[in-house]
Amino acid sequence: MADGSEKRGGVDPPSSFAEGANVTASDCESLRAAGWPACWERAAELLDWDRPFDAVVDDDGATCWFPGGRLNASYNCVDRHVAAGRGDEVALVWEGKLDETRTYTYRELYDEVNAFAAGLRDLGVGEDDVVTVYLPMVPELPIAMLACARIGAPHSVVFAGFSADALATRMEGADSEYLVTCDGYYRRGTALDLKRMADNACLSVEYPVEQVVVNRLDAESPAGDYHRYSDVVEANEGTEVEPVARDVDDLLFLIYTSGTTGEPTLVRHVTGGYLAHVAWTSHAVFDLGPDDVHWCSADVGWITGHSYAVYGPLALGATTVLYEGTPDHPEKDRLWRVIERNEVNVFYTAPTSVRAFMKWGSEYPERHDLSSLRLLGTVGEPIDETAWRWYREHVGGGECPVVDTWWQTETGGVVLSTLPGVDSMRPGAVGRSLPGVEAAVVDQMGKRVEAGQSGELVLTRPWPGMAQSLCEGTDWGARRTRTVDGEWQYDTGDKAVRDDEGYFHLRGRADDVLNVSGRRLSSTEIESAIIGVRGVAEAAVVGRADAIKGSEIHAFVSPASNVAGDEALRARVREAVESAIGAIAVPDTVTFAPSLPKTRSGKVVRRYLEAIANGEDLGDTSALRNPEIVGELESLLDE
Ligand code: WT7
Repeated sequence: MADGSEKRGGVDPPSSFAEGANVTASDCESLRAAGWPACWERAAELLDWDRPFDAVVDDDGATCWFPGGRLNASYNCVDRHVAAGRGDEVALVWEGKLDETRTYTYRELYDEVNAFAAGLRDLGVGEDDVVTVYLPMVPELPIAMLACARIGAPHSVVFAGFSADALATRMEGADSEYLVTCDGYYRRGTALDLKRMADNACLSVEYPVEQVVVNRLDAESPAGDYHRYSDVVEANEGTEVEPVARDVDDLLFLIYTSGTTGEPTLVRHVTGGYLAHVAWTSHAVFDLGPDDVHWCSADVGWITGHSYAVYGPLALGATTVLYEGTPDHPEKDRLWRVIERNEVNVFYTAPTSVRAFMKWGSEYPERHDLSSLRLLGTVGEPIDETAWRWYREHVGGGECPVVDTWWQTETGGVVLSTLPGVDSMRPGAVGRSLPGVEAAVVDQMGKRVEAGQSGELVLTRPWPGMAQSLCEGTDWGARRTRTVDGEWQYDTGDKAVRDDEGYFHLRGRADDVLNVSGRRLSSTEIESAIIGVRGVAEAAVVGRADAIKGSEIHAFVSPASNVAGDEALRARVREAVESAIGAIAVPDTVTFAPSLPKTRSGKVVRRYLEAIANGEDLGDTSALRNPEIVGELESLLDE
């Protein structure tokens, strides 16, 4: 294998990397030969079990992975590394606003996780009680998660950018009576009041909520009825809490994501399969080991941060980096400074960020010594070839393999990617499916399409990290599993093409889910917030292509009769979305329309609106009841 050489449009990993990789070509071969499900045993072997599992999967449909096994996630991510004599090694490095940093060794992490777990128990948190965690990127966020896992209390982390209403819906949906939050946090140098949001959410929840509040702003403690995080931890200093042995299919956490309905979708992940999956993919795809410093730049409030900033790297005893700030504050070289200072080995980020770095220019990474990096990754949306090459050249020094990893909240961990020491990289394509994962591209009937043809991406075998909600085959909105000619299929909601070498090229969503800056938002959820505004008759939300963000949010709003589509209404629309979901979902553009394009049965056709927003050719509009509206909307946008 030539060093970083290109052939047939592919880029081979440097031989130095390939030789030392956790998974080498011959390992990969034997894994593929072992096949599904046997090869997943390797994943489970990365963990310590309180009771060994009886089989890799159960025999009634593979809905339960590693049946019979018992384990604790907090033990696997913390205790066992201390027990192995690695207590003085760094588990977590936190980079806060400006130049403030905090470091936790595995021993320090152990102490604080234990103290907080004891504190949660004192508050009455029992096994299976859901604890909501609404925190920005502070060390107390992973600590709270691990403390919950220790006592068998599933956590439900809600991204700190969500509004009070969104938090309340998520707490009620999970019957969660406990909330860990903070007084506020810094964003671009300004202090934001998170406690007020949390209080507003608790007011609208139907039952009393116990709050624990982290002091982040160093301001006076806000008034009210709650427990201070520092008091809880101090009162339990030195207390050790026995990790609760959990059944493999006991819940580890809940997480909400956006589906195709007007409500957030609840996804449940279990202890055994999930932890094995994220540990294994951290080992095989991110090539992590105990000596590595890993930085996954995603917010821990999303699944990416759960799997690859917390559970995966800590299960392997690596160092994980947590960064509170934004990439361009105080300067556009901030991330590169963090990498240099912490000698980061593996960096994982979103294509939207890479496109922003590229726009800012290579002078920023060039100011820093990035030679500690040995592997780069991306996730969240397709990365185009130009951005991929820029990333590899200017961040990866032209040497680092780049893994483009495809997965979803529902899959728990990576399922499609190249293996960095094995596969040739193909810029613009994710790899094949990982060993033990089976994927295909099918038509709407679930029949396979030919290589090179576009269709829907499905997974045709269960995998350990799959959400429990999916194993049970319960109905979760429009995303489903089905059986086609006796074959089980999970419909991912994505469009893809598989090439003749088995590499998948992702082509965006097939459903009404938007991808804005690598974040998943539901058109329907935004629409239902807009429709609730007084004076609005109808609304439809679509994505408009944007060079940096992937998509921008474009709302077409039709005002009620005798209501003017003016600035006041536009402001009400924006406020309604901000308060129902959060600032991340506020439309970039609001176009007032006399009506929306509809089928004869009265269904709004988003596809036409998407074409209009993107200035594309609409094709045949004769199926519309009101084809004349199309020209009207086009001329409105030209103004
Ligand atoms: C959706 C899942 C779990 C990772 C972060 C987002 C898109 C994810 C890729 C990729 C093209 C990708 C898909 C997927 N996506 N990774 N490498 N290439 N598209 O998790 O919020 O559940 O979103 O993100 O559309 O369905 P999520």
